[in-house]
Amino acid sequence: MTPNRTGSTRRAALSSATAPSFGPAHAALAGLLLGAAAAPVLAQTAVPGTAAQGYAIYQNGTGGKPACASCHGPDPTAPAAMGIQAYGAGNPAAILDAWGMPPMNALNFSSAIDFTGRVGLGNYLAFPAAGTAPFSIFSMSQVTFGSVIVGQNSTQTVTLSNIGAAAITGLALQPLPSAAGVTETTDCGATLASGASCSINVTFAPSTSGAVSGGYVASSNNDANTAHTLFISATGTAASAPAASSGGGGGIGWLGLAGLLAAAGARRGRSRQSE
Ligand code: HEC
Repeated sequence: MTPNRTGSTRRAALSSATAPSFGPAHAALAGLLLGAAAAPVLAQTAVPGTAAQGYAIYQNGTGGKPACASCHGPDPTAPAAMGIQAYGAGNPAAILDAWGMPPMNALNFSSAIDFTGRVGLGNYLAFPAAGTAPFSIFSMSQVTFGSVIVGQNSTQTVTLSNIGAAAITGLALQPLPSAAGVTETTDCGATLASGASCSINVTFAPSTSGAVSGGYVASSNNDANTAHTLFISATGTAASAPAASSGGGGGIGWLGLAGLLAAAGARRGRSRQSE
């Protein structure tokens, strides 16, 4: 009998065991990259597991193991692909769990495909185009500063990675002038090799109160990811609270907390980069 896909109870059990994220692909992949940052990932070093590696494993097999395509079909997005994309996109842990299901459990994939390979498979399933083309992704699609007090500033670091199969050339980050008080520094050059990443430090230093928003678009000559914008939202807050709040002390306390939260966010961003 050919492998069947009627194991809905097995799949349900797997789902509850691993609680995979079924959110938008960008969000899933952002989570994946943040998770992967537990291993040393410095700017301009290799991203563990590119979609190109995942593509090779999926289409050709590795370490004497059969190609995933031999059962799931060459197109992982096709309805006949037994849910592999919905289940495994950006989710190396879910892929590892799925290998415990018959008939895959007989193949002992985990002996030949390590964490890097599983991340690559997750990247490929999330962005199939990246398997054969240059493809950049931001580590987060939205930078939210919250409230920052006028005269102070907050910085968050975003990583831009090429998970694709070839170098991105002509890379440029376009600042949008609408976000007053937002500046950036970056070590991203015009070329980003396959498996490489670079950093963008986004700083919000409000000179007046009020909300600002904007975005940076990563453009290039050949990036297969064409819908690619980093959104920024932030609010400048007056240094002294307006008298409108009768509980003046409470108002100032809230502002102080907002500043602390923004600073904590900036610390998190930095520590991720340096870990
Ligand atoms: C021998 C055939 C076979 C091979 C080779 C194979 N799979 Fe599968 N895979 C299956 C079948 C059959 C299912 C459905 C099992 C079920 O639903 O009970 C499945 C399910 C999955 C699922 C879960 C999908 C879901 O919706 O539950 C993932 C993830 C997965 N496979 C990943 C892979 C990866 C990655 C590879 C290659 C490294 C691979 N498989 C190779 C047969 C195979």
